[in-house]
This record gives sequence, structure tokens and C-alpha cells, in this order.
Amino acid sequence: MTHPHQRLLIVDFGSPVTQLVARRLRELNVYCEIHPCNLVDDAFVQGFSPRAVILSDGPDSVARADSPQPPAALWRLGVPVLGIGYGGQAMLAALGGEIAAGGPQGESQAAALELSAPLDLLDGWFADGAETVWTAPGDRVARLPDGFAVHAEAPDLPQAVTADAARRLYAVQFHPEMHQTPHGQRIFANFTRIAGFAGDWTMAAYREDIVADIRAQVGDGRVLLALSGGVDSSVSALLLHEAVGERLTCVLVDHGLMRQNEADQVTEIFRRNYNLPLTRIDAGDRFLAALAGVDDPETKRKTIGRLFIEIFEEEAKKTGGAEFLGQGTIYPDVIESVSIPGQPQATIKSHHNVGGLPEKMGMKLVEPLRALFKDEVRALGRELGLPEAFVGRHPFPGPGLAVRCPGEVTRAKLDILRAVDAVYLDQIRKHGLYDDIWQAFAAILPMRTVGVTGESRTYEHAVSLRAILSVDGMTAQVYPFSHDFLHETMTRIIAEVPGVNRVFYDVTSKPPGTIELE
Ligand code: XMP
Repeated sequence: MTHPHQRLLIVDFGSPVTQLVARRLRELNVYCEIHPCNLVDDAFVQGFSPRAVILSDGPDSVARADSPQPPAALWRLGVPVLGIGYGGQAMLAALGGEIAAGGPQGESQAAALELSAPLDLLDGWFADGAETVWTAPGDRVARLPDGFAVHAEAPDLPQAVTADAARRLYAVQFHPEMHQTPHGQRIFANFTRIAGFAGDWTMAAYREDIVADIRAQVGDGRVLLALSGGVDSSVSALLLHEAVGERLTCVLVDHGLMRQNEADQVTEIFRRNYNLPLTRIDAGDRFLAALAGVDDPETKRKTIGRLFIEIFEEEAKKTGGAEFLGQGTIYPDVIESVSIPGQPQATIKSHHNVGGLPEKMGMKLVEPLRALFKDEVRALGRELGLPEAFVGRHPFPGPGLAVRCPGEVTRAKLDILRAVDAVYLDQIRKHGLYDDIWQAFAAILPMRTVGVTGESRTYEHAVSLRAILSVDGMTAQVYPFSHDFLHETMTRIIAEVPGVNRVFYDVTSKPPGTIELE
């Protein structure tokens, strides 16, 4: 992909919060990419041609002989470099300093930093005295390389900020990207200003760049896109449509696991408002038949994924010879799939997308959102005029309601679930809470419970409600509804949905739970 905008390279040494660094930079309208340290060698750095580089923190110790190193070419580029934690120590060691092992990394904690000598990176800091920063005790800097000096320190952190200001090389031993460092964003603002970034990377600019990129990639070929109505596939559809017009065909596979009226709404908006070529496949019966008797979560996911690909492939053949497959992959998907040496990443769930298709069908992928975070995709959706109801939608999993129906999936259970989910979301909207919540949904539990309605005993389904707060879906906290809200919602569900006599509220955060039930 060609990006005329100035680029910042983040070298990832495996910190779990490296994505946050990228987020902070994007908030400053600076285009950046994260690349894992094992793939960043001299040739890569030269090819990437960054205007500045950030070396992330990581779990390793520079004092260990074979710890990962930044590539030597970095120091010859002459661009500003900011090293955070491990990244800073790796830079100091590479330039002739010495790092002494300080034992295993301790618990992260706050430290109060004092200014030792002014530094452009610290402009605007210390206006009210000490600055609070978030840091984890670990290795110590035993000797600084020539040209480096200490600019800020705390009692337990004597080399909190060191720099060779003339060469614009900076090492910080705390996390400016974390909100526990309240003025951390100022460090990134100063750093990118020092590096000369214009801060002009906006969604309007992205739209222009990416439409040109898609045209260059696709030429006069045809593109096929699986449209689910989620914000990622919707925004991809609009971008691709803008780029290649009639040569885009969208396919909506209704697997019978969508929410109430969802397939109708999506079809309506894209056909009517955008005049976008859209084929809708009603495959509910086929999916339900394949899912009959299946209650293992992974088998369910695989069954749905396989069938989706089969159906999509059949449709693709009918539309005749598309060589490109559009996919709404976003940046966190790309980063999550990179593994850092020494940090095994277990598959927790097999996520369902159209993966596997391109190779099988000899198609090439077009992924117009590959560089964007979710909130950037939303901003781009607004830029493209996508209605707010689509832009602000909560995420919805590819396997749909199947993963909210532990045990066997049946039509009867799905009908109940759809009705409960609709009442729950209606309640959330009525109380003005939809946009405060990251994701909310109902699930139907694999059990019946005893209840009493008027004079009579009931023996009906139990449902659970879930609502979470999250930034990226990787971790989540439970949304703290008021007791009144929960009570009112329970009352409405039981009154309005026949077949349900009990409502639970799921109070599990992630971890230890995942967001979906399966
Ligand atoms: P979990 O349940 O893994 O979910 O904590 C994290 C986020 O991902 C969504 N999710 C999926 N999205 N295909 C998707 O496109 C999937 O197979 C899938 N499974 C989970 C989930 O809704 C939550 O937002």
C-alpha cells in the first residue's frame, strides 16, 4: 500500500500495551505501523523509511546475552528514536551504554518524576511540580553511552528520562502510553513535533489514499465482498464501491443466526440508499441442519465457518470470475496474529471470517481497513455518510447467535433469543445507554428453571444478559447497570417473551471470561 503520509515505525518487543502506543499516535493524526522486532532488520528499516521510530517495552532483559536488538541501521538513519522501557534500554546498550540486571520485573507502580535538566521531549511537563508516571521496576542503567544525559529522575528511578538531545535519541523508563501516566500524551506530541510530523493523517486523507490504492490493486478486475452489516464490512463495501463501482458485488449470507430484522435492514439500506449490487442468500435452513445435534463450541464455529465458505463459493461462481475478495480485516486483527518470539499465543477460539477462501479459490485479498483501529473505521464510516445506526453498532460475531446459545442450536431457541435480545437492546436505547456500552447482548442458557406466574407453576428457559465496557475487545469490564434498570428489563422480558421465566445478569469480566459465551 502506498502512503504518501509521513510514517512512524513502532518496533514491538512484545509489550502487551504496544497497541496503546499506536493509538496515542493515531490520536495525534500521525500514521504509524507496529512491526515485531524479529521481522525488523536493516533492510526492513531502510525500505520502510520512517520519519521517526519508537522502540516498545518488552518482557525480556537487555542484560541477557541473546535478548532482541534494534537493527543497527536505525542509528544511521538519523531520525528521532524514542525507546520505552526495554526499548529504551536496548537503545542505550546498542549505543555503548551498560544495563545491569535488576532481578525479575516487579509490580507496576506510580513514581513521582523530578526534572533534572530541560529537554525538548519534556516540554510542558513539570508545570505543576513533579509528574506522575507509571513504571515497573526491573533492570537498571549502569552507564550511559557517550552523548547521553539524565533529564528526569525519581528516587527509585534515577535514569527515568535520558537523552542524546543533539541526535534526538530518547529513552524513558516508564509508560507514557498508559493512562496511569496522566500527561503521557504530551511526550508523544513533543516527540512527533520534534520529528516534524504535520499531524495531517485524517480519515478524509485516508479515504483518498485508499481509494487510489484499491484502484491500483484491482485494475479492471472484479471484487466480491461478504457483507454482514457490521461496521467493518459495511465501511469496506462503501470504499470498494467508491473505488470500483459496478465491479463490486456484495453477498449477504443470512445464516439464520442474525438478530431480529437484521438481514432485512442491511439489505434495505445498501440496496436502496447506496444502489450497491447485493445478493442476499437465505441459508438459515442449511445452517440449522448442519448444526443439529452439535453442542461443542469449537465444532459449532468450524461447522458455521465451513458452510459459510461453501455457500460463498457457490455464489462467487454464479457471479462469474471475480479475482479479488474484499475483507474487512482491521488493524488489531493484523497485530493479534503476529507472535513475538518467546510469547506463545494460544488459540482461545477459532474466529470466524472468510479466511481460507482466497487460497482455495485462487483469489487475491483486498483489505481496505487493514491499517485502521475500530474507532477509526467508525470515523471513516461517518466520512462516507454511513448512517449512525450502522457506524455506532456494537460488534457482532461472525458465527452470530450460535455462540450465544450454549448447547444445541435450534430454531425455537433462536426465536426466543432474538426476542429477548430485541427487548434488552430496546431498553438500553430507551435509557440512552447504547453508546456508553461497548457491546451488549442476550444469551439463552442450556437449561430450564421453575417459576410461578399468577397461580401456576412454569418450567421455562433461562436467559442471561451481558453488557461490557472495552477498548478493543481484548479485555472487558462489566457495565454497572443500576438495579432499577435490571429489574425493569427483567420484568419486560418475562412479560413480552413467552417461554422465558428467569433472567440472569452476567457479571464476568474478561479475563477470566471471554465476551461471548462460546
Ligand atoms: P471473545 O468472546 O473472544 O470476543 O472475548 C471478543 C470480541 O470478538 C467478537 N467475536 C467475533 N467476531 N468472528 C468475529 O468477527 C468471531 O468468530 C468472533 N467471536 C467473537 C465478540 O463479539 C467480541 O466483540
